[in-house]
Amino acid sequence: MTGTSTANTASAKTGRERIIIFDTTLRDGEQSPGCSMNLEEKLRVAHQLESMGVDVIEAGFPIASNGDFEAVNEIAKRVTTSIVCGLSRAGRKDIDRAWEALKPAKRARIHTFISTSPLHMKFKLQMEPEAVHQAVIDSVTHARNLCDDVEWSCEDGTRSEPEFLCRVIESAIKAGATTINVPDTVGYTIPEEYTRLMRYLIENVPNSDKARFSAHCHNDLGLAVANSLAAVMGGARQVECTINGIGERAGNAALEEIVMALRTRADAMTFETGIKTTEITKASRMLSGITGFNVQPNKAIVGANAFAHESGIHQDGMLKHAGTYEIMTPESVGLNRSTLVLGKHSGRHAFRKKLEELGLQLGENQVQDAFNRFKDLADRKKEVFDEDLLALVDDTVGRENDRIRFVSLQVVAGSKGPQSAELDLEIDGRPASVKATGNGPVDATFNAIQALYPHEAKLQLYQVHAVTEGTDAQAEVTVRLAEGGKTVNGQGADADTLVASARAYIHALNKLLVKREKTAPAAMSA
Ligand code: KIV
Ligand code: ZN
Repeated sequence: MTGTSTANTASAKTGRERIIIFDTTLRDGEQSPGCSMNLEEKLRVAHQLESMGVDVIEAGFPIASNGDFEAVNEIAKRVTTSIVCGLSRAGRKDIDRAWEALKPAKRARIHTFISTSPLHMKFKLQMEPEAVHQAVIDSVTHARNLCDDVEWSCEDGTRSEPEFLCRVIESAIKAGATTINVPDTVGYTIPEEYTRLMRYLIENVPNSDKARFSAHCHNDLGLAVANSLAAVMGGARQVECTINGIGERAGNAALEEIVMALRTRADAMTFETGIKTTEITKASRMLSGITGFNVQPNKAIVGANAFAHESGIHQDGMLKHAGTYEIMTPESVGLNRSTLVLGKHSGRHAFRKKLEELGLQLGENQVQDAFNRFKDLADRKKEVFDEDLLALVDDTVGRENDRIRFVSLQVVAGSKGPQSAELDLEIDGRPASVKATGNGPVDATFNAIQALYPHEAKLQLYQVHAVTEGTDAQAEVTVRLAEGGKTVNGQGADADTLVASARAYIHALNKLLVKREKTAPAAMSA
């Protein structure tokens, strides 16, 4: 292979070159409609990314909103091993705001960008190419005066003129950029072309050896992962990606697919990543739970069917030798067979130990709350699995300060209407009860919540999935509410689908109240 930037060295142990995994789930991923996360959720995701061994976490776009600033700032305070990165446009104010948010980080990176394609320069920026060139020099110089680690991106890089790219990249490196990212912003390129572009830039930018080149691919043509690997073949040594491939429009390149392709085909691609692949399933499920974006069943690596073998011929082959139809093991991505965890006679000590095994660190009161929910579940469900515990903890922890709390629900369902729901809540510490009817039990339940806590928010998504197999499985429900251009996702889990539905709706409503409180304190009454 020709043309790789020299900021890269092969590992002495394996002889393989390291590909830097730059995760942008919390920035490019979170930017996509319906994927917004609150601070507590972003911190959970950031913690999981760090545990997975992600090299760079792009935590947000600090100038975009106070919420984004706060999230980048908190993540910068708490993450210690991964580099924490914040995005900014080319202006000084943007860069200063990013740096202010990033300052507490042990390892910080400012990521600044400007468009370089003729189309973007003319219509989006309305700037002449030379003015863009000057803005690159000014922005990178300013960022580098603040932070030692600066990434510069040429937005719409794959539709930019390669000769112009060479000139601006040379200037960006001269001004102090340590990573050069060449995004396929609109998901337009194809693998061969992207390999050629990367190689061309690395070979023709005179100081390319002073920076690491990076790929950032969108999935509009379904080629984001293939293009990312093609960029690696052309000399890129950083890949930007998101968990489950979430992102603008058709999404970004999926982290799990890139990492597992590099690992599974290590014979053909002589690289390695620092990702603990056994954490992949946990990260994927965590993100789906938070955003309500479930991955399709046949999605590579993390889809429900990714390791399922249905046909008789395949099952027969698998029994004789797993390698017949399996190119990687489910265990390698952290998909372990459901293990029976605890029964209804299990004590608090065993419960706490299990939480620790699952990597859940809870405070004393949180353990007690989760334990109470577990006891309740164990009374109703024969077997309680790891997945049950994870869903139950998700539905308990972090909700201590909720203004609206679920107490109980009785529903009349069936073919003879009207269906009705009797709901007891606690609102700001006071009990509240109502009976409501509706077009089906879910509608009746949500009408009851509306009656007790009137609100204008509109239901955008209602989704149910079974946590484990069997008719006594817990239902995990996601509800998305929208109000004044803001959306929030709520989750609820319970062996009773309607209770899970009520919990999910109430969770979303509580999150909306927090959001309202932050943006308009005067609008707090119901
Ligand atoms: O797709 C893109 O061009 C981006 C840049 C801001 C890096 O997300
Ligand atoms: Zn992007």
